Amino acid sequence: MSRKFYITTPIYYVNARPHIGHAYTTIACDTIARRQRQLGAETFFLTGTDEHGQKIERAAQAAGKTPQQFTDEVSGEFRALWQRMGISNDDFIRTTEERHKKRVQELFRRIRDNGYIYKGSYAGQYCFSDELYVDSAKPGDPCPICGRPTETVEEENYFFKLSAFQEKLLELYANPEFIRPETRRNEVISFVKSGLRDLSISRSTFSWGIPVPDDPKHVIYVWLDALANYITAIGYGSAHAGAQEAFKKFWPADVQMIGKEIVRFHCVYWPAFLIAAGLPVPKAIVAHGWLLFEESKMSKSRGNIVRAETILDVLGADALRYFLLREVVFGQDGSFSFDALVQRYNSDLANGIGNLASRTLTMINRYFKGEVPYASHAASRTAGDDAIVELARKTISEFGTLFDQYQFSRALETAWGLVAAVDKYIVENEPWALGEKQDEDSRSRLGTVLYTSAEALRIVTALAHPVIPEATARIWTQMGLGDIKKVDLNGLAWGQLHLGTKLGEVQPVFPRADKSAIERMQKMEEGQKGAVGEAKLEAVAPAVAATVAPAAVSAVPGPPASEKISIDDFAKIELRVGLVKVAERVPKADKLLRLEVDIGTEVRQILAGIAEAYAPETLVGRKVVIVANLAPRKLRGMESNGMIVAASLEGGKPVLASFLEDVPVGARLK
Ligand code: MSP
Repeated sequence: MSRKFYITTPIYYVNARPHIGHAYTTIACDTIARRQRQLGAETFFLTGTDEHGQKIERAAQAAGKTPQQFTDEVSGEFRALWQRMGISNDDFIRTTEERHKKRVQELFRRIRDNGYIYKGSYAGQYCFSDELYVDSAKPGDPCPICGRPTETVEEENYFFKLSAFQEKLLELYANPEFIRPETRRNEVISFVKSGLRDLSISRSTFSWGIPVPDDPKHVIYVWLDALANYITAIGYGSAHAGAQEAFKKFWPADVQMIGKEIVRFHCVYWPAFLIAAGLPVPKAIVAHGWLLFEESKMSKSRGNIVRAETILDVLGADALRYFLLREVVFGQDGSFSFDALVQRYNSDLANGIGNLASRTLTMINRYFKGEVPYASHAASRTAGDDAIVELARKTISEFGTLFDQYQFSRALETAWGLVAAVDKYIVENEPWALGEKQDEDSRSRLGTVLYTSAEALRIVTALAHPVIPEATARIWTQMGLGDIKKVDLNGLAWGQLHLGTKLGEVQPVFPRADKSAIERMQKMEEGQKGAVGEAKLEAVAPAVAATVAPAAVSAVPGPPASEKISIDDFAKIELRVGLVKVAERVPKADKLLRLEVDIGTEVRQILAGIAEAYAPETLVGRKVVIVANLAPRKLRGMESNGMIVAASLEGGKPVLASFLEDVPVGARLK
């Protein structure tokens, strides 16, 4: 019976549209899954979307849609992107699917029947962005994951007896394979050693979630709901015995890949839930670092995202996959830039494997009528030929070891070391000069050189297939070798390329990219972000400030009578009361502050040119007026989603509009 292999990505929140930070996790898993298939394992690769909870409900409201409409739409975007990228997932689970909901309730019942759930009440801090209870925090304290201010929650809840699992979890962590890398493992151990409190696992102040069995006033805590996807997708809790077969076969998972910010949920809560339900825990949880863009984590709230589609349109999916796995040291944070992407693409793909394939195969076409020549074993062999054979053998084993330890960057570096060595070998042996001669020795030497080059190319192509599946499949067909998916990596060895193999049609796989590729990608991304330009508070502030702060506005002349606007025109401007949650300076921009403002339905990032008038710390907790329906614009590479209203005094500093009486957050001004 073949070995099984089950790998999962986290399921993606649908409050944000997919970007290359998400693609990073998916690509890493896809690459591992593809290699496992080549190694002969019966592989199951799961991904999907995380669609419940208050954050998603609020995002749907802000978009003017029902949660179902909204989640259908964004989940569809994730699914479509993975399809376009050729991601080889075996299933795509949505937490709003019936199959998931029923099975989560079954899990809840099982944990409750085992005595690990009780009713209590929670009064404390909660981070809505990460859906995290922050027990130790005081009102206004920041979330330990994202740094946003936590909000106070007071509810009657169901609690999970997490405190009962401290010892069991620590025993689990004694296995160094369970959490990787080591740094994350140490963090988790010290977190658990510091003591675990019981965890609230239901909410009752909103309804967008899975009802608690027998008490539908409550919905199940979104993280319990979401984590369960890893087992519900493969049939856990199904009423049909047939559906449970996959669960029996594939659980426990072999690898659960996650980003470093969700380690606590996966390494503490998840195994505790499983043990409480009497289920086995996963074999390994592997955490990667963040993809940074313009020096900070690529994320919707920062507005510094890059869409995968842009890169797919210009350079193709293989370019993105190769770049992310080669450039970022897995486990650590890594930076994305269009310049670095194009540079890697040209040096390693166009000039590297692409060039090796086209020059080698073209010469076999030209000098041997498209049939793989014979490599001499006789006296005409040189030490140079043997060195390539030796290096190829070493590459096969080193690549495998590094890759299977998730050291993708070093594995690729090793494989590309062989590409570089063969390039040098070709230059030194000048097959084009040998091809001009007709004598037997030259023909035999030419055969050896081209066989050696082609065989090394075949080996690199087979190894690199999980990382650059499209291009390697094409090289494989060009080499006349058929379907690359059928390659058995266990048996990959030097000398399997047969004499006389007939090549297919040879075409370049990675055309060189010029500078315009960078500009095109940048333009495409800018085009997505709306108008670009410095925020001009003055442009809207005077007209608006007149409605809320007449005294302050007198310093600025109003519009002439002929330009008076109607009440309908004014109604187009959506002014709302917002609460500043975060305020910070923007590096290298003296006037600009980056604010996160709660407007009741969501927290917006807004860039405001008020740094000379207000110190950031004086703004946190202050109520402001914002223009909520302004088209987003990009400033200093960050998205500004709205505008703060201030009186603009000629030659003076801006003065924020404010209220004498208390007003609720989100209230509309009209
Ligand atoms: N919904 C939760 C996971 C629930 S799993 C039971 C979630 N979703 S997420 O959409 O915010 O993130 C999903 C994955 O994408 C995580 O692994 C996260 O680390 C990854 N990334 C999102 N942005 C990223 C970067 N900028 N860089 C690298 N990975 C990032 O968390």
